[in-house]
Amino acid sequence: MIGSYPNTRLRRARAHAWSRAMHRETALTPADLIWPLFVTSGSGIEEPIKSLPGVSRWSVDGIVTRAKEAVDLGIPCIALFPNTPSDQRSEDGAAAYDPDNLMCRAIKAVRDACGSDVGILTDVALDPYTSHGQDGLLDGQGYVTNDDTVAVLVDQALNQAEAGADIVAPSDMMDGRVRAIRMALEMGGHPNVQIMSYAAKYASAFYGPFRDAVGSGGLLKGDKKSYQMDPANGDEALREVALDIQEGADSVMVKPGLAYLDIIWRVKERFDVPVFAYQVSGEYALIEAGVAAGVGDRDALVMEKLTAFKRAGCTGVLTYYAAHAARLLHG
Ligand code: PBG
Repeated sequence: MIGSYPNTRLRRARAHAWSRAMHRETALTPADLIWPLFVTSGSGIEEPIKSLPGVSRWSVDGIVTRAKEAVDLGIPCIALFPNTPSDQRSEDGAAAYDPDNLMCRAIKAVRDACGSDVGILTDVALDPYTSHGQDGLLDGQGYVTNDDTVAVLVDQALNQAEAGADIVAPSDMMDGRVRAIRMALEMGGHPNVQIMSYAAKYASAFYGPFRDAVGSGGLLKGDKKSYQMDPANGDEALREVALDIQEGADSVMVKPGLAYLDIIWRVKERFDVPVFAYQVSGEYALIEAGVAAGVGDRDALVMEKLTAFKRAGCTGVLTYYAAHAARLLHG
């Protein structure tokens, strides 16, 4: 219509690449990424994980190579998960606090090779070590007990700290475990070991491929709904985060990622604490399945999703795409 113009043309700023770059509100960098890696026994071994196409388990020597790659790519931290040999899994998950377990050997090897050039984050939960695949100890009814489990998680966390972990990340969702672990770290001479709590961890259908990767999937009977959160709840996530901060968490995590951006945002708005998201195995596998089905371009899909975490308020993201994304970011 002649003589009638929009007051504001937001498209002006979008017209050229230089202008889009200048107006961009969120920047993803390699320093925002934490790279989860799966450890297996032996040496010189790479085991591709069928349900996580493009991701493998590596023996300790391979983990060291990946850790060096992380350093070269500017990825500040790796997260280690063990595929415990089945003869070392037990009802009580005692291998979790064996100072010579796969985790401890991997932690030490990375520390020896990389010094403090890369952070090492370790998962505190019993599922890679139990013969039943649950994250804690069972009572006679198959219920995961809280306080007895916390006592074992403390031993597990101390064991990891002693091997050289920089960040212990309780992913078990027991009540009171952050305080118990913090106290034990202080008293055990590890005041600088951080706790990143999986504060809002949901009983999600997106963890399937991870359970294959650590070999607990086939063992797991039932579900984890008596300790992990109901996906329908948001207010409760804020209570979980508040408690974990009060108990001594240095940073908190929301998990899974993309289906829970609202939770990330609410945590960020409410609390003054670094918040991380875990783009979990099922999210990764769905992108890969989508790419294979011709839904879209992998690189574009990955970068859009990772950027969304930053936009929602994340300090960083745990992602199986960490190395891939860092390479893209380096151009
Ligand atoms: C262990 C743990 C799980 C994940 C991270 N730590 C699985 C679970 O709770 O069953 C899932 C990560 C992923 O799916 O990528 N407690």
